[in-house]
Amino acid sequence: MRTLPSLALLAGYVVCHTIQRREDISSPDVCLRWAHQAAVVGSELYIYGGRSKQSSQQVDNTWNNDFLKLDLSKDFDIASAPITGLPKPDGPPAVALGYLWNDYSSLYLYGGQYSDTPPAQPDEFKLWKYTIQSSSWSTPSTKASSGTDPRIERAAEGAGVSIPNKSKGYYFGGHLDGYTTQGWSQSIPRLYLTSMIEYDMDTATWTNHTEDGASFPERADGVLVFIPWGKEGVLLALGGGDNITFSQLNVIDVFDIAGNKWTKQATSGPTPQIRVNACAAVFSAADNSSHNVYMYGGQNLQPAGDQTQYDDLWILTIPSFKWIKVDTDGQSNPPARAGHTCHAYRGQMLVVGGFVGKELSCDTGIYVFDATTLQWQTTFHGGPSTFGDSTNPQKVQDPPDDDNNDPTSPYGVPALVVSNIGGGSTGGATVTAPERTPAPDSPLTGVNPDYTYNPDASATPVLVTSTITTAGSVITTVYTSTSTPTGTTRPPASKASSSAPVGVIVGSTIGGIAFLAGILLFLLYLWYKRRVGELRKSYEEKQVTQGLVNHDGRPLSMASTAGGRRYSAVPDAGSKEDLMEGVEPTFWGMLLQPRRSLRVVNH
Ligand SMILES: *[C@@H]1O[C@H](CO)[C@@H](O)[C@H](O)[C@H]1NC(C)=O
Ligand SMILES: *[C@@H]1O[C@H](CO)[C@@H](O)[C@H](O)[C@H]1NC(C)=O
Ligand SMILES: *[C@@H]1O[C@H](CO)[C@@H](O)[C@H](O)[C@H]1NC(C)=O
Ligand SMILES: *[C@@H]1O[C@H](CO)[C@@H](O)[C@H](O)[C@H]1NC(C)=O
Repeated sequence: MRTLPSLALLAGYVVCHTIQRREDISSPDVCLRWAHQAAVVGSELYIYGGRSKQSSQQVDNTWNNDFLKLDLSKDFDIASAPITGLPKPDGPPAVALGYLWNDYSSLYLYGGQYSDTPPAQPDEFKLWKYTIQSSSWSTPSTKASSGTDPRIERAAEGAGVSIPNKSKGYYFGGHLDGYTTQGWSQSIPRLYLTSMIEYDMDTATWTNHTEDGASFPERADGVLVFIPWGKEGVLLALGGGDNITFSQLNVIDVFDIAGNKWTKQATSGPTPQIRVNACAAVFSAADNSSHNVYMYGGQNLQPAGDQTQYDDLWILTIPSFKWIKVDTDGQSNPPARAGHTCHAYRGQMLVVGGFVGKELSCDTGIYVFDATTLQWQTTFHGGPSTFGDSTNPQKVQDPPDDDNNDPTSPYGVPALVVSNIGGGSTGGATVTAPERTPAPDSPLTGVNPDYTYNPDASATPVLVTSTITTAGSVITTVYTSTSTPTGTTRPPASKASSSAPVGVIVGSTIGGIAFLAGILLFLLYLWYKRRVGELRKSYEEKQVTQGLVNHDGRPLSMASTAGGRRYSAVPDAGSKEDLMEGVEPTFWGMLLQPRRSLRVVNH
């Protein structure tokens, strides 16, 4: 008789305890997760916070402080990724669109915005550190580097990147408002930023590089990537904008880490449409001859609250700075998304979460793109982390014991990229500098002892394009598609390709010359017609892809030149203008000025 109440008590205790414990552990099962913070350390992916829905109907309480882990050392099926819940931390706030920096042993949560439905009051900004070995969260005491604004705010919607090998974290732009900053009323207008925040994880030191030559408007929701090119590497800021202006993707803002200084670099190739909340992952060729930025998805800016998500995939190949569109038609593409994260791992781009629009209710939230074959995959191929996973010398672990690829470099430069930059799947790119002229103070050219790829000087430069034959003297001149105006510093191998006249003087008798000249003129005329056709086509493509008109044909009313048209170091801006005015180059004009015409073609 006495045992019954105590049994009930015990049962009650067990039930309560289990519920309690279940609440402490983050749930990996959600209908949708987006705007989270995530980082890969070693062979684990960590996901912190952001927003999630338990059901497609849920509209409020989407902010969370879930803390999750995904083991990347083993293969898994994307439909059942083995995400595990870690204890929900007590302390770090439930924020979205901040960043999770990492070195090789810890995570650092910076920035992010608090819930707006229901509205939450942000508390005082602190940097939260998670030490992986002890599974513990703490707030390290930090200091500001001398000479910079000692006050660091909690920004949100900026673009972050980690460079574990340098123990550095960066956060670019973003905004401050009543959901990021303690004590700000909701009636204070959102303040957009241009700042580049640096945190040194070794010395716990903040630096706010705000006045270092930024010549672009304030911006949020862009992407930041690290490229080991230049003395200490560079950061590239891609896309983003505020509620009025946006950044076009035909001129990239480049932050030189060695000089803490911004420059700009024009791109070649077709330009992706402007966007916010895209993701990007970088894959390096085994010999560092190219670093390829894979940019995926994002959304348009307007109309606010009813944006359209994208599912296109682009590669920006460095150092040529050429955009290459990846055609994924016919593949099982994941639903279009924005506010997702992308992670380079063993030659695969792992896509986590993302907002998928209003039509779709739920989404599995894990996708895998093979960066070599350019195919979406249903299986993730796990193993130890390798060089190139973060364009950083990683601590490469033991070679895999299973049937994985070459442990040192599972990434091969895709044939599509090779066809643009030369070389092969392991590297050997023959394009060794930006195709469009770099600014005179660019960190992308010149002598860079740490990172410059030194192509084999004995290799024969590959001449890529047009043969132009000038009339008068009957001299055949070969130009390459990478021809740059002289005066810029370029690595030796490409110098040979600037403009090498391969002189062939033809002719013996007057009659022979007249006959040849006749044939030549005819051939030249055919060449001229083809060129003009190409110019037209390229001009029309440019007009669309540069965002002069947006995808539904309405002209954009925004100041779309964010860093674009103001950039004067692009030598052929004038000739493009001519084309826009509808001026068609004449036959004789093009013969007499082949270089000028060529530059237009090669933009
Ligand atoms: C960086 O400094 C600028 C200028 O003092 C300031 O406006 C901005 O809020 C700072 N950025 C952050 C994230 O604290
Ligand atoms: C960065 O990489 C270099 C070269 O591999 C290595 O010597 C150095 O110790 C690394 N630094 C850190 C902080 O891991
Ligand atoms: C854009 O944001 C600023 C700052 O929050 C605000 O003052 C302005 O009214 C906004 N403009 C539009 C068109 O939404
Ligand atoms: C590529 O660059 C990394 C530094 O980012 C360096 O550690 C590595 O040795 C380089 N590899 C080659 C083949 O030069």
